[in-house]
Amino acid sequence: MSDEYVKVAAFDELRDDAGIQRTVGDREVGLFRDGDGVLAIDGVCPHVAGPLGEGFVEDGKVYCPLHGWPFDLKTGRCTTNKRATVECFQTKVEDGVVFVRTQK
Ligand code: FES
Repeated sequence: MSDEYVKVAAFDELRDDAGIQRTVGDREVGLFRDGDGVLAIDGVCPHVAGPLGEGFVEDGKVYCPLHGWPFDLKTGRCTTNKRATVECFQTKVEDGVVFVRTQK
């Protein structure tokens, strides 16, 4: 398995109230600003594949843009459907550039 971080965005692209969606290898990743850091989760909603990175953010949750399921950005857990969880990924920010690691 690789421990490689991949460059995905400029930190300035991230806002407090919305995510951005990026393709990393064969994965879709949702990226969200968290103060001076970045949180990353699987960008594919487990309901019917809505792009979670395009959802709006409030109180540490992203709301799926298709049907509004809320996902905790730190745990990946859906807060209204306990059986729905998305994977979280490690990130780092260096010199204004956001990197994500999707491999374990
Ligand atoms: S696709 Fe995400 S809530 Fe329906």
